[in-house]
Amino acid sequence: MFTRWAALATAAALLTATSGCSGGEQAAEAAGPQRGTVGLAMPTKASERWIGDGENMVKQFELLGYRTDMQYADDDVDVQVQQIDDMIDAKVSALVIGAIDGTALKSVLSKAARNDIPVIAYDRLIRDSGDVDYYATFDNFKVGVEQGTAIVDALKLKTTKKTFNLELFAGSPDDNNATFFFNGAMSVLRPYMKKGILNVRSGETKFADVATMRWDGAVAQKRMTRLLKGGYDVDAVLSPYDGITRGILTAFQEADRKLPVITGQDAELDSVKLIASGQQTETVYKDTRELAKVAVQMTDALLSDEKPMVNDTEQYDNGVKTVPTFLLQPVNVDESNYRRVLIDGGYYTAAQIGA
Ligand code: GAL
Repeated sequence: MFTRWAALATAAALLTATSGCSGGEQAAEAAGPQRGTVGLAMPTKASERWIGDGENMVKQFELLGYRTDMQYADDDVDVQVQQIDDMIDAKVSALVIGAIDGTALKSVLSKAARNDIPVIAYDRLIRDSGDVDYYATFDNFKVGVEQGTAIVDALKLKTTKKTFNLELFAGSPDDNNATFFFNGAMSVLRPYMKKGILNVRSGETKFADVATMRWDGAVAQKRMTRLLKGGYDVDAVLSPYDGITRGILTAFQEADRKLPVITGQDAELDSVKLIASGQQTETVYKDTRELAKVAVQMTDALLSDEKPMVNDTEQYDNGVKTVPTFLLQPVNVDESNYRRVLIDGGYYTAAQIGA
């Protein structure tokens, strides 16, 4: 398997060497003849992370000599199903899918299987289908643990004698990741809730009550606005994703309320700016360049009759099978380390963040 990673590293080096020219094409030529087209079905451009995911994969596939057909579905499930169907008709060699509704692809994926097209689930598990071959993602439970821990640390709950009011938000109920994030966070927060150190005054603590359809910041803002009318202070908010966090913070600002301790995910530029200015407490950074590398490596291995490298064969049961998975590690980012992790790590420039 190391040869596969090595090939990728060589390809990446080639990109650096050829930058300035039309790097993709030159490197593709250098990597050998055309090796088929990979269909990339991405959920939405509304969130900047998915744009980065797509661009990173296209770049890396081209370096290995593949063409790509990348489609974004604007968070519309039917559009995504149609796009995948069209890719199958166009005889793509493989499919890499960032699903919108992880339960809605069963039928189109059985068509992919009939056409011998391997399928990689990208970041989000595709559920209820036996036709998903591999899954590339981050340790999703750990993402939630990082978020819960950020709240515990910011409120100094390990040593405090005070009590605090907390409200909970979760992600989209049709995205398998959302439950993993929520369960991870609750594994850290629940003991403090049981002791009465953290109180959810709204009483809304079940996943179904706190989920946010399509990860939509506007939906979260509306719910937060309602909760802020409850007549009590809200000291902390568990938020699963930066776009939701920004919606929640807007609700606080509009209600002229003191901003809470609040979490996030994805290290989106707009949220990193809020961290730099002290308005958002933390985000969970997931290096999409690395995730793209894993998905490209998996696809390339499958198309080269090799076995993709995985490191988890237990956690991701999709209802039909346990999908072999490669898990990357998420990183907690806050005011104390965003410069080192994000700027020194080359994810953003200081100028972009304005820091
Ligand atoms: C999840 C993903 C998160 C975040 C969210 C909203 O599936 O794991 O990182 O991007 O979708 O897009």
